[in-house]
Amino acid sequence: MNRLIQRLIATSVLVGGLIMGFSHADEPIVIKFSHVVADTTPKGQGALLFKKLAEERLPGQVQVEVYPNSSLYGDGQEMDALLVGDVHILAPSLAKFEHFQKKIQLFDLPFLFDNMEALDRFQQSEAGQSLLTSMEDKGITGLGYWHNGLKQLSANKALQVPRDARGLKFRVQNSAVLDEQFKALRANPRKMAFAEMYQGLQTGVVNGAENPYTNIYSQKIHEVQSHITESNHGVLDYMLITNTDFWNGLPENVRNELTDIIAEVTVEVNNQAAALNERDKQSIIDAGTTEIIYLTPEQREAWRDAVRPVWEKFQDQVGAELIEAALQSNNPQ
Ligand code: SIN
Repeated sequence: MNRLIQRLIATSVLVGGLIMGFSHADEPIVIKFSHVVADTTPKGQGALLFKKLAEERLPGQVQVEVYPNSSLYGDGQEMDALLVGDVHILAPSLAKFEHFQKKIQLFDLPFLFDNMEALDRFQQSEAGQSLLTSMEDKGITGLGYWHNGLKQLSANKALQVPRDARGLKFRVQNSAVLDEQFKALRANPRKMAFAEMYQGLQTGVVNGAENPYTNIYSQKIHEVQSHITESNHGVLDYMLITNTDFWNGLPENVRNELTDIIAEVTVEVNNQAAALNERDKQSIIDAGTTEIIYLTPEQREAWRDAVRPVWEKFQDQVGAELIEAALQSNNPQ
């Protein structure tokens, strides 16, 4: 590479750095990590561990500010904020990417993954990893997948069979797949930001929801829902993302160290997620406000049959091959 090209690259990295907020070499790079859930959840814990390790291993070079509970940006604003560089790391649920990458709708297809291990195998596969880099033309780089857990249905009545959901209003994330899932049950989905769910349930704007136990407990959803059906009908998982220009403009040593830290934190989050969901399930039981309904295999099959037509509706957008690859992950070699 000749000198002129080297100088041009160095100048553009420096200018990029200034635009994205890196100033002097002696001032730390501020990394804002915003999310919508509580510190006690798998994502909340992961964000705090990332801050701890980044500040320990890059002292004076990096300062991480974590904003939980939609305190900086909520659903609907956080992605725009990332794209303009007002925040640097997010971990939106995989349901919230449909405007950027339709294939990611795969993860919301109901009853696709048998368990979190299958989800993990798919995410580590070539097909799963390729989704992380599939939005770079839109300015979004995926850094890893973080688990929460399997979703459970909740309502202010017992949901034992699909017919029980008919006519109920369910809060859904901003996702066409999840919208269709509830329409398949002849229920009424209402798209609603995460931070508004508790009030929506409390005031009766919606009658039910779908969440893993950590989100139910930390948002006190159990206090406004009389029943939880342990349906395990879908996954709530996250993609840890950054602004591509911000990430590429970081000094190489910082980017490399952060990459290693993220790999370490990802393992920790994904190892801990199931235990955190079990802990919060037990806390819900202890609270005594809500009855947990366990389905027989036949009942679960009936729920599966009721929502299975959703797969065909999204097959063209997601891709039959990707669905097949996800199904393969249910069979460990
Ligand atoms: C989250 O866990 O980040 C929130 C998911 C939701 O909106 O239900």
